[in-house]
Amino acid sequence: MDILAIESSCDETAAAVVRDGREIISSVVATQIEEHKLYGGVVPEIASRRHCESISAVVSEALEKAGMTSADVDAVAVTFAPGLIGALLVGVNFAKGLAFSLNKPLIPVHHIRGHIAANYLAYPELSPPYMCLVVSGGHSHIVEVKSYTEFEVIGRTIDDAAGEAFDKSARAMGFPYPGGIYIDNASKQGDASKYKLPKPHTQNPYDFSFSGLKTAVVNLVHNAEQKGEQLDINSLAASVQKTICEMLTDKFLSAVSERGCKKIAAAGGVAANGGLRDMLTKAADERGLELFLPPKSLCGDNAAMVGAQGYYEFMAGHTADESLNAYATMNLGKVVY
Ligand code: KG4
Ligand code: ZN
Repeated sequence: MDILAIESSCDETAAAVVRDGREIISSVVATQIEEHKLYGGVVPEIASRRHCESISAVVSEALEKAGMTSADVDAVAVTFAPGLIGALLVGVNFAKGLAFSLNKPLIPVHHIRGHIAANYLAYPELSPPYMCLVVSGGHSHIVEVKSYTEFEVIGRTIDDAAGEAFDKSARAMGFPYPGGIYIDNASKQGDASKYKLPKPHTQNPYDFSFSGLKTAVVNLVHNAEQKGEQLDINSLAASVQKTICEMLTDKFLSAVSERGCKKIAAAGGVAANGGLRDMLTKAADERGLELFLPPKSLCGDNAAMVGAQGYYEFMAGHTADESLNAYATMNLGKVVY
């Protein structure tokens, strides 16, 4: 089954053709990052406009690269939640028009389910049940993946997401948006023990809290500026990365051991982080866990992951009609449309 998938939930307009949920036939991602960089973050109105301008060309390119026309695909999948509402609506309306003009099924896909499914494109042997650490710009979840379409969220952030913690700390340190990758790179030259940063306690031991870390970094930078002191930016980056990654890894692994799970995965933009990948790999080795890390190229937003999850949603009978709407927020475990 060949699915044409569309993703427009944030600042990437993407389209892909995916076969049987596991094989990427083509994948095109048009990023808007350079424009949003000017403002230090994603400007929703600009994001919607750029999606409108590029979606048609991006979909055509994905079909062309697959050597197909729209008549050759078996269904159209689209990210319909969660995300920036104006941005999501561009993809949803385009997909609706396409699916109904072709008389093909329309498959709504939850963006975070898509991030998790990116792993299916890299690991033919991976199948549920397993536990997944989802770390993106907007979400940080510890998830039990019970089946391809059943998810239980065990822990979540109570304030900022892991990606936001990277990006806001990076911004305070003078790095451009999105700062996660800059912290990742700078930390390679730094001493992670040089700066002590807070790891807050949460009521639910599997929840995350990152806003105190960002405040601590902002305060460190301001204090240094006022005293005319030079901060060791590489070491501060290494300390930020170590603190975030330890919080993520420690809580994830204690949830994994509480559930007695032996198979684990990671997903989302922050899963590209070198420190997090090293920590998870080491912990999995020590505990005899089977670990699946998405290739870095599939960690960030793309449409191939939407095509992968779309296949399993279709198999579970989850299709929509022309009344499909987009939603800015939606629980991963309780998808409704
Ligand atoms: O999953 P994603 O592409 O978009 C959302 O669905 O939010 O995640 C984007 C986030 C950004 O916060 C970005 O800084 C972060 O992923 N990110 C990283 C790295 N690459 C991307 N964070 C840390 N280290 C990286 N190497
Ligand atoms: Zn995402």
